[in-house]
Amino acid sequence: MMIRRLPGHLVNRIAAGEVVERPASALKELVENAIDAGATRIHVALSLGGTRAIEVTDDGCGMGPVDMALALERHATSKLPGEAIEEVTTLGFRGEALPSIASVSTFIIESRPAGGDGWSRRIKFGTLASEGPAALPPGTRVRVEDLFARVPARRKFLRSERSEYAACLEVVKRLAMARPEIGFSLDHDGRRTLFVQPGESRPARVAALIDRGLADHAIALDHVRGNARLGGIAGLPTFSRGVADHQYLFVNGRPVKDRLLIGAVRAAYHDLLARDRHPVLALFIDLPGDEVDVNVHPAKTEVRFRDPAQIRGMIVGGLRQALDAAGHRSAPRPSAAALGNWQGPGDNFRGPAIGGSWSMPAQSPAQSSVFEHQRDWAEPSARAEAMTAEPEGSDLFPLGVARGQVAATYIVAEAKDGLVLVDQHAAHERLVLERMRAALAGGAVARQALLLPEVVELDEPACNRLEDHLPELLEMGLEIERFGPRAMLVRATPALLGAGDPKALVADLADDIAAFDSALGLKERLDHVAATMACHGSVRAGRILSVTEMNALLREMEVTPHSGQCNHGRPTWVKLAHGDIEKLFGRK
Ligand SMILES: Nc1ncnc2c1ncn2[C@@H]1O[C@H](COP(=O)(O)OP(=O)(O)O)[C@@H](O)[C@H]1O
Ligand SMILES: [Mg+2]
Repeated sequence: MMIRRLPGHLVNRIAAGEVVERPASALKELVENAIDAGATRIHVALSLGGTRAIEVTDDGCGMGPVDMALALERHATSKLPGEAIEEVTTLGFRGEALPSIASVSTFIIESRPAGGDGWSRRIKFGTLASEGPAALPPGTRVRVEDLFARVPARRKFLRSERSEYAACLEVVKRLAMARPEIGFSLDHDGRRTLFVQPGESRPARVAALIDRGLADHAIALDHVRGNARLGGIAGLPTFSRGVADHQYLFVNGRPVKDRLLIGAVRAAYHDLLARDRHPVLALFIDLPGDEVDVNVHPAKTEVRFRDPAQIRGMIVGGLRQALDAAGHRSAPRPSAAALGNWQGPGDNFRGPAIGGSWSMPAQSPAQSSVFEHQRDWAEPSARAEAMTAEPEGSDLFPLGVARGQVAATYIVAEAKDGLVLVDQHAAHERLVLERMRAALAGGAVARQALLLPEVVELDEPACNRLEDHLPELLEMGLEIERFGPRAMLVRATPALLGAGDPKALVADLADDIAAFDSALGLKERLDHVAATMACHGSVRAGRILSVTEMNALLREMEVTPHSGQCNHGRPTWVKLAHGDIEKLFGRK
């Protein structure tokens, strides 16, 4: 066996395997270099999803011919003047990207420092092909063609041009979000697909890159814990998405995808969203360089915190505080699609539509022929009580005064500025949960003993799980005990749930514990249990409420944290503003 020193081009190719796995990772390195060079504008041009060509042009500091030659050597960097990696404030510092990329592509770099001349080098798969003077404005342009053309093993693993492009776009978005002071543009196959001006505020930049609507449905964060700070914006739960792709996390200005951070976000929203919904947010964490290690991953997308518990606590605490302060706010307007369903008589009006969209009777329902007609199909389910005198100060109630109930499920209320519809079950479920939490915070939840203890049959593992949590459940007001191998005996239920179905409650709790036991800490687990209990203890859809009951619900919602969304993140109420009502009638 002979040990040999690998030739430079092989070393570079091995390094490329770590740093460059697809066009998006090469692009990331090039844009990071442009940012580190102090650029104020960065332009990216891609063709065929970056598989044919990637070009990055910046107006940064540039470099002369000598530095350019050095930059293409492995481990040559201008960014680590001393020994301390902790003190690095640039995105790069490993000095590997350029030689690695140049070893697996046709690579052209042109650069010109301020006050100097331009120079260019062309490298084909690791070998210098040509160099010479180049004409360009101060700054740098790097072009990468036919990435992996001579590395079939890599080439084979590239996905469709469309998904390579999507990954490239994501890279530019993340870096553009991190640096709102820099202007970015991106062209794909000659078409401009991203453009943001330099010098934007952080929230404006985030909204421009994620969703313009986010600006109206998000809260600003500013939370300090120890020497760490959390900033950014967090979407309201009602603005959630079905995928977790819209979560942007930055540590000291560096985009990261860190499991600790993602887990903390999930914990902060856990009772505000259903399991398959995900918040939209951009979190910026800033902390001293020696509190975080960014050198744990070749592409620098993972970080290691010195005190992970502190960071997790800051995120959960900061998000919760901000979401608490958002109070009963939810996405305040019905979705455009739902609004579009409001329907007028039109030309072929023959009677009320059955399918859930509203139409209007000619006279008041009580005497109209339309009403008679409708009787043939179904009993109308809308109910209105006589108008009561306005309660004192009703202008002050954001959710208005109850006017009636629709489908025994939705409360219709009149607010100062519009018509409010409330989902009574969703809203009440939230209120019960918040009452439960308040009770827990103040000690234990009051119990109501059952007249006759109830036996609930479950499979053995479910009974075991419940048995492991008897003290927690007791604290929550649920007194149960083991009753043989496959049954539990329920003695008391939380008083604030009222008379419910203890069987269903206990069965659901057993499922819940199975799903969350290992994943969550005690406090979060308690919260889950509370949420499951709340669902069982709340007013069902389909229950007729009196006007007094409805108003009581509205008033409690106004003063209860998070009452704008149910425990699964859906809105509990929507409002149609007077202006929108006027539009529906063509008055505006
Ligand atoms: N766009 C650019 N503008 C100016 N200098 C650059 C640019 N890209 C790379 N360089 C120089 O080349 C060096 C090597 O780059 P790279 O291989 O990405 O390593 P690193 O960024 O880790 O230092 C950098 O340290 C920098 O001095
Ligand atoms: Mg670099």
